Amino acid sequence: MDPRITRLTDELFFIQRGWLNGNHLVFTGGPRTLIDTGYIRDAAETESLIAQCGLEIEQVELIVNTHAHCDHIGGNAEFQRRSGCKVALHMIERYFVDQRNDWATWWGYYRQDAAFFPTHYSLTDGEVLTLGEMNWLVLHTPGHAMGQIALYCLDTGWLVSADTLWGGDFGVLTTRVEGLDAPFRLRESLERLSRLKVQKILPGHGPILDDAPAAIQACLARVEAFIEDPRRMAQDQVRKILLYTVLMRGPLHREGLRDLLMASPWFPETAQMYFGGKMEAAFRENLDYLLERELLKLDDEERLLCTLPA
Ligand SMILES: [Fe+2]
Repeated sequence: MDPRITRLTDELFFIQRGWLNGNHLVFTGGPRTLIDTGYIRDAAETESLIAQCGLEIEQVELIVNTHAHCDHIGGNAEFQRRSGCKVALHMIERYFVDQRNDWATWWGYYRQDAAFFPTHYSLTDGEVLTLGEMNWLVLHTPGHAMGQIALYCLDTGWLVSADTLWGGDFGVLTTRVEGLDAPFRLRESLERLSRLKVQKILPGHGPILDDAPAAIQACLARVEAFIEDPRRMAQDQVRKILLYTVLMRGPLHREGLRDLLMASPWFPETAQMYFGGKMEAAFRENLDYLLERELLKLDDEERLLCTLPA
């Protein structure tokens, strides 16, 4: 079996992907369920990982998405078409998908590839999703995405935390789309998670975390720092989206990346909001940061490559 797959029970598997693809859960009991489906470009790889858990795409009965960002819904359109499965999201994310709103989903705002898909169920805070013997409490955890959910297993204490909580970090805060109070809502979501008895965190990116209190405290400290200094929050946004852009579009010459950013909806207004309107300086300083830390590097043709796994 691929080393990225962890068997959690006889019927439940966690698949750790990279940065362009969010992690997945695969449940092979009834109903046969996928939680999140990766990035659209890598759907074939996603399918092969799911098959290694003993589930063929045609057999899928239900897709649950933690939220509608492109790295979590990329397989939805194709997998739903082939399986005829139902698709469930929090009611807010479902609303935006049904409205074909590619701004609220960030796809248009950040110029990401994604395809709309049919939806069937609205999930609401406090309801319980039963997969086989396991009962998962749906928790609305906004901040990173308006309609993001976490799933807390009432039987095992496992938490599917999506992009609200990773090891020492969390998903981008896009205040222009999510609202200027996004860090406050993320803080509330994290505080809510801190009141649960969590045995194991199954995050949206990165490895499984066993020390839940420490992970939650680290994220709370980070969001506090962002509230204290919004420019730090914006640097984090620019750096992460730069990395995602190179993962999606790379390898790219520095000028090519610069032109993509300047022509995007998100970069000029982020520079206006947080970097005193100094677009060139904001581009240079954040790109240099990523090069210094070797999250980006230059190939033989002086093109930028991202060193993180996709
Ligand atoms: Fe996300």
